[in-house]
Amino acid sequence: MKVVFFHASPKKEGKIGQIIQEMQSEAEKSKIETQLLFLSDLTIQECTSCGKCIENKKCVFRDDIKQIEEAILHSDVLVFATPTHWGNISSVLLKVFERLVGFVIRQNGNKPPIAFHAKGKKAVLITACSTPRPLNWIFNQSRSAISRMNEFCRYSGIKVIKKIVLPGTRRLSDIPNKIKEQSRKILRSVI
Ligand SMILES: Cc1cc2nc3c(=O)[nH]c(=O)nc-3n(C[C@H](O)[C@H](O)[C@H](O)COP(=O)(O)O)c2cc1C
Repeated sequence: MKVVFFHASPKKEGKIGQIIQEMQSEAEKSKIETQLLFLSDLTIQECTSCGKCIENKKCVFRDDIKQIEEAILHSDVLVFATPTHWGNISSVLLKVFERLVGFVIRQNGNKPPIAFHAKGKKAVLITACSTPRPLNWIFNQSRSAISRMNEFCRYSGIKVIKKIVLPGTRRLSDIPNKIKEQSRKILRSVI
C-alpha cells in the first residue's frame, strides 16, 4: 500500500501543506508508505499541444514528469491537494494534468477515451480557499477546483473516494482541529 501526495500549493507549509502533514503522519503511524511530491519544486514544462503523446503513450518531454508517472504507477492512493486559485486548481497542478494526457488516457476514435496507467487507483481530493462558507460553494470557488480534479480522475479511471474542502482560510493561522481530525480519519479509511 502506497499513498502519493501531490502538493500543489506554491507554499510548502500553508493550509494545504498542513492538511498533507496530518495525513502523512497518520500514514506513518500505520507504517504505510508515502511519497510527497511538492510540485513547485519539480521541473515541469508546459504542454505544447504537439499531440505526440497520443502515439507515444507519454509526453515527449522527459523532465520531472517522469517522477510523477513513476509515482502514479507505484501508488494505490493519489492525494491531489491544491489551493483554489481563481476558482480553479493551481496552475502547477493544471500543468501536471495537461502533461499526463498521453499517460492516463488512450484516444479511441470517436468514442470516449480509454483509461490507462492510473486506472483503478483511488483518490482523495483536497482544496482550500479564502472565500468563507457557503460563498465558497455558491460562487464556484471550491466547487470548481474539486470539479476540475474530478474531471481528471473520471477520464483516467481513478475512483474518487473522499474530498476535503477548507473554506475561509484568510482568518486562520492554522487549520482547524476539525479538519485535522477529518484528514486523519480519511487517511485511515483509504488504506
Ligand atoms: C493567485 C491566487 C489566487 C487565488 N484565488 C482564489 C479564489 O479564486 N478564491 C478563493 O476563495 N481564494 C483564492 N485564493 C486564496 C487561496 O485559495 C487561499 O489563501 C488558500 O488557503 C491557499 O492555500 P495554501 O496556504 O496552501 O497555499 C487565491 C490565492 C492566490 C495566491
